Amino acid sequence: MAEQVGTLTFGIIKPDAVRAGKIGQIIARITDSGFHLRAMKLIHMTRREAEGFYAIHRERPFFGELTEFMSGGPCVVMALEKDGAVRAWRDLMGATNPAQAEEGTLRKEFGASVGENAVHGSDSEENARLEISYFFSQIELV
Ligand code: RTP
Ligand code: MG
Repeated sequence: MAEQVGTLTFGIIKPDAVRAGKIGQIIARITDSGFHLRAMKLIHMTRREAEGFYAIHRERPFFGELTEFMSGGPCVVMALEKDGAVRAWRDLMGATNPAQAEEGTLRKEFGASVGENAVHGSDSEENARLEISYFFSQIELV
């Protein structure tokens, strides 16, 4: 495994952005912004896998809609490294609701609605570790 120069966060290019053919553009934005890709793969989550990933939101009214959407097509899961990666990745993504996201953010450019908002990012270093380990084994981190 390469020496770690920053901290890690976890990201997803969600099924709406994959369906719209935006994987390449989003990865270009990620690497142009100084993130190092440490792991990446295309997956199609089952409903149960999406429910496990979003277990923290189980009681929220949008849980059914969210897990249906996230298991509705392929997505790209990624481990991203940068100094202050969690904050930096959330800044690049923009606000959860694309209508409120700042100009130049991924959700502003690629998101359609609060539900279909193109990308996911961890909200803390602890959750980043948990989320990376949900999708990647240790040998998949390069
Ligand atoms: P994410 O976890 O996907 O990076 O997004 P976030 O932290 O900005 O937002 P969070 O509160 O964690 O919500 C997770 C995802 O659930 C969907 N959502 N739908 N219909 C709704 O009101 C609603 N609210 C949230 C979004 O896809 C959001 O990214
Ligand atoms: Mg969140």
